[in-house]
Formats: sequence, C-alpha cells, structure tokens
Amino acid sequence: MSKKVLLSGVKPTGAPHIGNYFGAMKQFVDLQKDHCGYIFIADYHALNFIQNREEMQKNIIGVLLDYLAIGLDPEKLILFKQSDISEHTELAWIFDTLTTMPYLMRAHAFKDAEAKNKEISIGTFNYPMLMAADILIYNPDIVPIGSDQKQHVEIARDTAEKFNRIFGETFKLPESKIIEEVAIIPGVDGKKMSKSYNNHIPLFAGYEEIKKCVMSIVTDSGEGIPKNVYAIHKLFRSEEELKNIYKEKEGKYKELKELLIEDIEKFIAPLREKRKEFEKDIPKILAILKAGGEKAKKIAEEKMKEVREKIGVSV
Ligand code: ADP
Ligand code: TRP
Repeated sequence: MSKKVLLSGVKPTGAPHIGNYFGAMKQFVDLQKDHCGYIFIADYHALNFIQNREEMQKNIIGVLLDYLAIGLDPEKLILFKQSDISEHTELAWIFDTLTTMPYLMRAHAFKDAEAKNKEISIGTFNYPMLMAADILIYNPDIVPIGSDQKQHVEIARDTAEKFNRIFGETFKLPESKIIEEVAIIPGVDGKKMSKSYNNHIPLFAGYEEIKKCVMSIVTDSGEGIPKNVYAIHKLFRSEEELKNIYKEKEGKYKELKELLIEDIEKFIAPLREKRKEFEKDIPKILAILKAGGEKAKKIAEEKMKEVREKIGVSV
C-alpha cells in the first residue's frame, strides 16, 4: 500500500517554544516514519506579522534550522518555502473568487483581531484562503496541526468542496490531525503558552534560560500539586512516574522545579547541539530548501494546469 501524504507548515515569526513543538511540530517528526509529504515554511503568511527584510530572512533560516534540528528528514519529506511556489498565491486568488466575505468573517483569527480593534490587513482577512491553497494544491490526506488551526483546515475542506461542486472533482478533502492530549500546552502562568503572552519556554533555550523560565512558573496548588509545574512536566516524563514523584515531594515546590529543569535540559540539550551543527553550514541547508522547492514546484505546476483547465482560462 502506498504511504499516506501529509502536509503542514510553520510561520517564520520567531523562535518556537515547547508549546509549538509538542502541540504541532513533534507530530511532523513522528509521522515521517510512515508517511510521505510536505513540510514548508509559510513565509507569505508571516508577512502579515514581519515586515522587515533582515528579520524575515533570519526567521526563515531559523525555521529551517528548527525543522532539521528536531529531526525532519529531507529524504522522507519535502521541505520547502512557500514563496518559492508562486502557484500557492495563484490558487489562493481563485479561491478568493469563490469565497464570500461573511464566510471569512466567521474565522477565529479575524474575529480575534476585530475584537482587539486591530487594523486588519487584507492579508490577514484572506489568510485562510492562502492556507487552503497551500494544502489543497498537494492533495494531502492529513494535515498535522495544533488545535488552534483546526478551523483553517475546515475552511480548506469547505473550499475544496465548493470548487469541486462548481468545476468538477479536483481537490481531495484532507483531514486535520491534532494530538488531543496536548491540544493546549500552558505557559509559566498557566495560560496558553504563546510568544505573544511572553509566558513561554523556548524550544532551544540554554540551561540558564530554562532555569529562569521554570523558576518563574506560578505555583498555585490544588490538592498539594503545583498544577502549572505538573502540566509542563508531563511533557517530559510519564504521568505514572510523575504521580509518585509529586506525592513523595508534596509541598516541596523548589525540588520539583529543580527536577523539571533537569528533565527539560535532558530533552533540549541534544536538540540545541544539533541546531548548532546545522548552523555551521547555512549554504548546505539552503540547498536542501531549494531542492525541496523544485520538487514541490513540479507537483504544484501540474495541479495548477488542471485547475486552469477546469475553470476555463486555458483556451
Ligand atoms: P504563538 O501563539 O506562540 O504565536 P503560533 O500561533 O505561531 O504560536 O503557533 C504555531 C503552531 O503551534 C500552531 O499550530 C499552534 O496550534 C501551535 N501552538 C502554539 N501554542 C501552542 C500551545 N500553547 N499548545 C499547543 N500548541 C500550540
Ligand atoms: N497557519 C499555520 C500556523 O499559524 C501555518 C500554516 C500556513 C499552515 N499554511 C499551512 C499549517 C498549511 C498547515 C497547513 O501555524
């Protein structure tokens, strides 16, 4: 039986944290064992947030290093950069013409921005259409994502259905893949871990940084257990082990935090080292991205040829 195809992407908007890793990126690595497919850098999506040349360049290389350091294998998955495949934006335009404003106004990201009275760019409003194009152009079976991206995959499915209904069967309907037990990882203050709340533990943090983050975890305890410490700890050690340890060290918050620091360090140190290794030869890793782009481009070109035929612009 042929392998199922996966597709996912990460925006180059800054260093990832352990919430991004356990909530979304880890799946990419786990799934590459028995899937093929595409993992890309969503730089055109990031342009909604990063409008600075140097920062954009630095972040793109950053995500590439992150991908390689967590163990993504370019022999197994095609790694590429969204902006290298202009067919994504072309398809997004076609989807724009099929989608209504009221429909996109129901998207969470738009509603959140509106609730915060932010000035909303057309790019932010159209974000789900570009994401639908990213996905549908490669006919993937699954889209591994963090739980907050679920609605975007639903929008992609709706868009595929609409296109298929109007122009005939063209796009496959993908399934999102979310790890339910880690759906939302809390930060040091117990709220959702997020760069924008500044409550995060960076995925490639150094030892001192890990220490500082863990020591700042707010210890509000329910039944003797500092639940914010525990919630992060269970990402690094089995709950079976943890239950005993937390019982034994009931009330000893400092000791529990020290153990968490050691557990995080044990996990992060090898990732940090691998990232440093890849950092030594940037031209080499950029060549990986370029080669991936060439492979993706072929598939995207084929699909766009079919799409142009179907909508009637190829005369
Ligand atoms: P941030 O909120 O830090 O800006 P992003 O919005 O860039 O994070 O999220 C990138 C990916 O990581 C998304 O797929 C998202 O679902 C996932 N993710 C982000 N924060 C968390 C979290 N606290 N728990 C689980 N997954 C998360
Ligand atoms: N919107 C996703 C995020 O913020 C990134 C993304 C862009 C994506 N295009 C995608 C994820 C296609 C999966 C599939 O995390």
